[in-house]
Amino acid sequence: MDTPASASDYAFARLGPEDLDQLLALERQCFTHPWTERQFSLGLGNKAFFVFGLKHGPELAAYCSFHAVAGEMEVLNIAVAPGLRRRGLGRRLLGLVLQICRKMGIRQGYLEVRRSNAAARALYASFGYEECGVRKGYYPDNGEDAVLMRLDLPTPQPESDRPDAPDPDPAQPQGEPS
Ligand SMILES: CC(C)(COP(=O)(O)OP(=O)(O)OC[C@H]1O[C@@H](n2cnc3c(N)ncnc32)[C@H](O)[C@@H]1OP(=O)(O)O)[C@@H](O)C(=O)NCCC(=O)NCCS
Repeated sequence: MDTPASASDYAFARLGPEDLDQLLALERQCFTHPWTERQFSLGLGNKAFFVFGLKHGPELAAYCSFHAVAGEMEVLNIAVAPGLRRRGLGRRLLGLVLQICRKMGIRQGYLEVRRSNAAARALYASFGYEECGVRKGYYPDNGEDAVLMRLDLPTPQPESDRPDAPDPDPAQPQGEPS
């Protein structure tokens, strides 16, 4: 299958158990300590756990998992297939996820990221995430620090003020973030 020219050509969708095999394959390509099948399966059975992805046809190109409860969300992971990076997929995916979170009434976002992960830190900062703390020596594999980041999500404008605004449903494919 040809690679799409633009990040906007990928379909955005909530992922479920039927995507588990592709999710695990992508996870193993992207992380030295990937989540296991059991971790994803437990997560996918939890109402507060969400995984969204970008697909080209049936092929999963990127995913973002997050946990949402009591007006707060935490990005657990975001990953783009190695051969598809620096094409805007990560930006599009995180933008759509944050748009959905705003519509869900979430007002604050948190995450932790390895200090050495310049790409992810730059991506998060470009959405307004700010550093709010450090967990020294947090990662057991190499003793690296975790940088904690926080984002205030603005309240969405009332729909009546935005007649053209998309109305994201976490279960459905979405359009571009507003
Ligand atoms: C982090 C990651 C998801 C970014 O995805 P991506 O699709 O390549 O990112 P995009 O092309 O959408 O880039 C968006 C922004 O991220 C930042 N960025 C992405 N890759 C970068 C890199 N290699 N170096 C510096 N900044 C980078 C830039 O700010 C970029 O904006 P710009 O293109 O205007 O400069 C991807 O690198 C990845 O999957 N990494 C491995 C998994 C991982 O570490 N996930 C984070 C766990 S916390």
